Amino acid sequence: MKKTIAILLALAMILALCACGSGSSSSAKKTLTIATSPDFPPFENLSGDGSVYGIEIDIMNKICEELGWELKIEQMDFDSVLAGVQAGKFDAGVSGITVTEGRQKNALFTDPYCLAAQAIVVTADSPIKGKADLDGKKVSVQTATTAEEFCMAAGYDVSSFAANSDAQAALTTGKVDAWVIDDLTAAEMVKVYNEANPGALVILDEPMTTEPYAFAFNLKDTDTVAKVNEVLKKLISDGTIAAIFEANEAPYTSPLK
Ligand code: ARG
Repeated sequence: MKKTIAILLALAMILALCACGSGSSSSAKKTLTIATSPDFPPFENLSGDGSVYGIEIDIMNKICEELGWELKIEQMDFDSVLAGVQAGKFDAGVSGITVTEGRQKNALFTDPYCLAAQAIVVTADSPIKGKADLDGKKVSVQTATTAEEFCMAAGYDVSSFAANSDAQAALTTGKVDAWVIDDLTAAEMVKVYNEANPGALVILDEPMTTEPYAFAFNLKDTDTVAKVNEVLKKLISDGTIAAIFEANEAPYTSPLK
């Protein structure tokens, strides 16, 4: 009797182990939760149904497909993205994020996948024709961006807005003299605005910075970043990233010299 019980117990334990084993392997598919501010076309934007689309979403989908991960997207203002990654609330910041020395102290960046620049946007009748004319002028930017950092360092009269659309509205309603924003997003937002208001806004032909974009992870996530870098390298060299830019009708500047 004792023996039977012992055998039954052993069997039960084996069964339990098997169940647990198969359970954990089916739930082992990693979910990569990304934090994004979807007010930054063509990199991330909101569609009518509330879903997020754009170049970086396409890239993340590709990366997750290659690595067998599930992609989960969390939306927030840009100024919450890096803080959330640093606090471990999200796995990655995917938000047109420029790699800077300051940010590298608090986040682990992947290799850059493209280059961008800050651009100046003004109204068509503006006397501002270039960077030199910005001295002492009122400039709108998005909060916690490199545009804000750049404009503050340059000593302009800076108004910061949590949403890019509000930074744009500050210009179109005459509250500021210029709007400083990353070039590809400037091109997209100005195109959309000018469709409804022909010729209203102008992007000045003077890129002010060089900004490598990358994805930001928690400082401790070295293994994950190594995996993502491996895929990114392939996607850059085999032309997938360039094709994603093209599909989103945006010019591509590779970070590789
Ligand atoms: N590249 C700039 C930065 O890193 C702006 C990014 C803004 N991104 C956004 N999704 N609104 O500061």
